[in-house]
Amino acid sequence: MNYKHFKLRTDEHQITWVGIDVADESVNTMGTPVLHELNTLLDEFEKQAPKSVVFYSEKKSGFIAGANVNEFVEIGKTNDLNEAEALVKRGYDVYERLANVKYPTLALINGYALGGGLELALACRYRVAVDMPGTRLGLPEVMLGILPGWGGVKRLPQLMGAPAALDFLLSGKTADAKKAKKLGMVDEAVPPRIMWNAAIGVLKAMPPVRKLSFVQNLMTNGFLRGYVASQARKQVAKRARPEHYPSPYAIIDLWQKYNGDVHQPKPEESCSVRSLISHPTAMNLIRVFGLREQLKAQAKGIDFAAKHVHVIGAGVMGGDIAAWCAMRGINVTLQDLDASRIAPAIKRAADMYKKRLRDERKVRDAMDRLQPDPTGSGATRADVIIEAIVENLSVKQKVFAELEAKAKPDAVLATNTSSIPLEQIATALKDPSRLVGIHFFNPVAQMMLVEVISGKQTSLEMSRRATAFVDQIDKLPLACKSAPGFWVNRILAPYLGEAMKCLDEGIAPETIDEAALAFGMPVGPIELADVVGLDVCRAVGETVAPGATEPQKLRAKLDAKTLGKKTGQGFYVWTNGKAQKASAGAVPAGLSERLINPMLKEANKALAEGVVENADLADAGAIFGCGFAPFTGGPIRYGQNKTTA
Ligand code: NAI
Repeated sequence: MNYKHFKLRTDEHQITWVGIDVADESVNTMGTPVLHELNTLLDEFEKQAPKSVVFYSEKKSGFIAGANVNEFVEIGKTNDLNEAEALVKRGYDVYERLANVKYPTLALINGYALGGGLELALACRYRVAVDMPGTRLGLPEVMLGILPGWGGVKRLPQLMGAPAALDFLLSGKTADAKKAKKLGMVDEAVPPRIMWNAAIGVLKAMPPVRKLSFVQNLMTNGFLRGYVASQARKQVAKRARPEHYPSPYAIIDLWQKYNGDVHQPKPEESCSVRSLISHPTAMNLIRVFGLREQLKAQAKGIDFAAKHVHVIGAGVMGGDIAAWCAMRGINVTLQDLDASRIAPAIKRAADMYKKRLRDERKVRDAMDRLQPDPTGSGATRADVIIEAIVENLSVKQKVFAELEAKAKPDAVLATNTSSIPLEQIATALKDPSRLVGIHFFNPVAQMMLVEVISGKQTSLEMSRRATAFVDQIDKLPLACKSAPGFWVNRILAPYLGEAMKCLDEGIAPETIDEAALAFGMPVGPIELADVVGLDVCRAVGETVAPGATEPQKLRAKLDAKTLGKKTGQGFYVWTNGKAQKASAGAVPAGLSERLINPMLKEANKALAEGVVENADLADAGAIFGCGFAPFTGGPIRYGQNKTTA
């Protein structure tokens, strides 16, 4: 039998090796044709049972990235609920069949195994994960508003125990090979050089299948099951409202009531595939997944990678930009007026590395890559130079004139300005086409989006290089025109402005924030203003809407120099990094819409002006740049849905 997506061979130990190699794709995904072929393979194995089987990937890119999300995207377009349901049930049945075969099966997980990819591995009797940088195991379906319907909800709890498994199922997080072994998700984690022998070894030894401990078993299959489910529901409720994000609740229900069997819930039950797919959240989140890919795709095919980055200005932004780049493997020099101004940034970097990298050697390597450079000598070697000094035109112009004289002729010259038009800064350069904006958001480590700003003078090559650089440091680039506020601040300003008006009218900050949370924003506008800094908010407001009347309460705070989180007090008092809030009280009817509508209006206006290229990128920028409620699909999509509803 000839297979299109599998390569079969049987070795001297009578082990049948099934190499997964999805035709015409660089990444393995379990699309419908692949699933059908797996079913045919199982038919063949039923006729003539192999002694044992190993599934592994023939691709360099990983084991299996998941089901084919594009199939869901297509279903979203036609809204064919029957097909959606059939797709999920088909996968469930094929994997169920695999799980029930008599001969031993093993998944050799070389690279990432996500969603339907991990579920295939879970349906095997054994799992060996190859301990290499790309190996990540997880079930990210919840992030797409759906559930792991191909047996993940059923099998992961049986391997790891329900509490740990639910943690994975409800957050979509992933584990590397070692962690997966520690948690019981896999039987072995082995280095790449011994992976083949390790698989053979397991199939020869055929160890008994791992059993849960007594307590784990009680929590997973015994009388503590209900308690575990209710605790999980409480945890989820802290992060996600069921009307916005039904899928984590559906996952808990499907596990607790039906042990993960997607055939059992009635169509009208909230944990049924049909309910989830017909909820707008699923289709919007699946689109958001595609939008992230679209942002990344902007960097595809650009042959540029920075080896050395020079950052000028070691303040809030520059210090964190430098730290981030060094963490991502680039040599960085960090310049400021003197060494004492750089020291706090190095200290912050050390703290971040300890938290994020954990491994002492990796922390040391990253610290080695981050060099304080008070004299600015690194600028002569850098491939990318990022200016993040005070927001002052003449100071920036002076810095760029000096930089141009000493930088390599093809180095990218970038500014992190949030409000000064690039064209004005560029007048200081002999070759103004070299200046591009690389606009990070605060806090740098948490914000995925980086705007790549092209002024009228910016050369295409510089913006292409800047885009590739943003991708290189694992951020999401968004191409924007140099216009006041660019994209994200432009749409945030009227939203924050409306919130300030509400404050002046006497509505409590907590109530205003609660209204935004009720809409689905991750933080309320008043808390956000405190985080960004009230001085920065004013500057952004003036840029986007020059001449507008300044809100009274904001002015009072600015006069009192209580600038928000950074000074310990703004509209809220901040202790230990947290805003001290009173209870919000009831949200007046219409308040959420009142806050959000100005943002929707501005987004459509800015899109029409061509600040970003199209509606998809516009929505992506709003979601990844300011957390615009992802389940709505973004401000443009949401506005369209509202008018058609
Ligand atoms: P900051 O005040 O925290 O840091 C500025 C640093 O630049 C200071 O350490 C200062 O000593 C240094 N500096 C001033 N003149 C210099 C010179 N001639 N040479 C070398 N260093 C010099 O400012 P922040 O907040 O980091 O802002 C920096 C830039 O980033 C500004 O253009 C701002 O508009 C932009 N930005 C700020 C964001 C924020 O949330 N704070 C967000 C996005 C962009």
